Amino acid sequence: MGGKARSLMDKVDSRDARIGIVGLGYVGLPLAVEFAEAGFSVLGFEVAPKKAEAVNRGESYVRDVPSAKLAPVVKSGHLTATLDFDRLSDADAICICVPTPLNKTGDPDVSYIMSVTESLSKTIRKGQLVILESTTYPGTTRELLLPALTESGGLKIGVDFFLAFSPERVDPSNPVWKIRNTPKVVGGITAACSEAARALYSTIIENVVVVSSTEAAELTKLLENTFRSVNIALANEMAVVCDKLGVDVWEVIEAAATKPFGFMKFTPGPGLGGHCIPVDPHYLSWKMKTLDYKTRLVELASEINAEMPRYVVEKAADMLNQHDKPVKGSHVVVIGVAYKRDTDDTRESPALDIIQLLIGKGARVSYHDPLVPSLRHEGPEMESVELTAERLAETDLVVIVADHSEIEYELIRDSGVPILDTRNVLRRLSETPAVAVATSR
Ligand SMILES: NC(=O)c1ccc[n+]([C@@H]2O[C@H](COP(=O)([O-])OP(=O)(O)OC[C@H]3O[C@@H](n4cnc5c(N)ncnc54)[C@H](O)[C@@H]3O)[C@@H](O)[C@H]2O)c1
Repeated sequence: MGGKARSLMDKVDSRDARIGIVGLGYVGLPLAVEFAEAGFSVLGFEVAPKKAEAVNRGESYVRDVPSAKLAPVVKSGHLTATLDFDRLSDADAICICVPTPLNKTGDPDVSYIMSVTESLSKTIRKGQLVILESTTYPGTTRELLLPALTESGGLKIGVDFFLAFSPERVDPSNPVWKIRNTPKVVGGITAACSEAARALYSTIIENVVVVSSTEAAELTKLLENTFRSVNIALANEMAVVCDKLGVDVWEVIEAAATKPFGFMKFTPGPGLGGHCIPVDPHYLSWKMKTLDYKTRLVELASEINAEMPRYVVEKAADMLNQHDKPVKGSHVVVIGVAYKRDTDDTRESPALDIIQLLIGKGARVSYHDPLVPSLRHEGPEMESVELTAERLAETDLVVIVADHSEIEYELIRDSGVPILDTRNVLRRLSETPAVAVATSR
């Protein structure tokens, strides 16, 4: 191992290394706090002044990082946020956690990564480690970052500076799997790059898994999320199949899940949401298209999942019809508009499409979500309504989309209003299991 790598690792060991986190969002802010709590001096780089100011006041805007956790590390001087990208040269190790959405045509939008890369190309210096954490297509680190960082200053990769990819695996609101106990995969451009990245993350993560290249690390993330997309699509398709056959899909899934091997339980729902599962498979498909290969299974899964909000609205219309009511003019209350339970994140949430489709058919739609006080999609801003017996008495249909734990489901159940329960939350309330498992003694 060369001198620069050795001295970087010594600084990491002694916690003298200064860490830069670029992008203080759902991924970057928890990571910044974790490094700060481990005793490092952390500088967070943001483009949104409001976020930088909030961090510097010790006020969190990310649900998984309570202000009570953020404030002490800000107060002790271990974490500071800045808008000044010239200060990138102050950091010994830099983790990039900027968004990687899709553009209007559904292709990868790596403009945020490119913008950070441009700043880095002006500030990169000897001894620095740069790690990309944003989910992206295989080849991004080597094809976009590496040339930009080597061309400008003539620095040699693996000797003068170090570059790696390490996918973020944060699962917002997961009470068990946090940064520290979720294994982290790293892949460097050279062995020294991997080793430097491994040493850095080992200070805050129990198990760091080194793979042989940046491409392997990039693909690992895409496999994980595509695996979820494909299996959720299968569960969603099974829900449609069961509906047509008059069979309870939840009972079938629970029964299948009693098999102790060869089956992994996934559940159907109103459609995919969040920044990852609906987006990441497109990064893979797009890359493979450039290599003249169509990822058929991956694309079909995305299609099936994308159709679910429309399916939910069809079911809603059927239920209203059964009660002699047209969709037009009916009062529909959507419960939970975040993309999944116990988060306040509405990005790509299927609730947005469901609300829009119902409004398009003339329904009078309101929503209740204790974690999302207001919602802006297409059309005017909506505000979460209180869930009361009086409101339910005026409601024609309730559609449960996100099954937050703090919602009063008993009130909904006991109101007698027809309920379209896309999460099977009411079954969970009842004592009756979907399948009764009898064991012989
Ligand atoms: N949210 C998740 O659960 C999750 C999980 C795993 C991986 N990821 C991946 O991590 C990456 C970040 O996701 P996120 O959910 O944290 O996004 P986010 O939108 O919550 O946060 C990104 C932050 O980066 C800032 N930003 C944008 N451009 C910037 C720039 N040029 N310089 C500095 N800051 C900039 C934004 O203002 C924002 O605060 C994405 O690639 C995403 O796919 C997210």
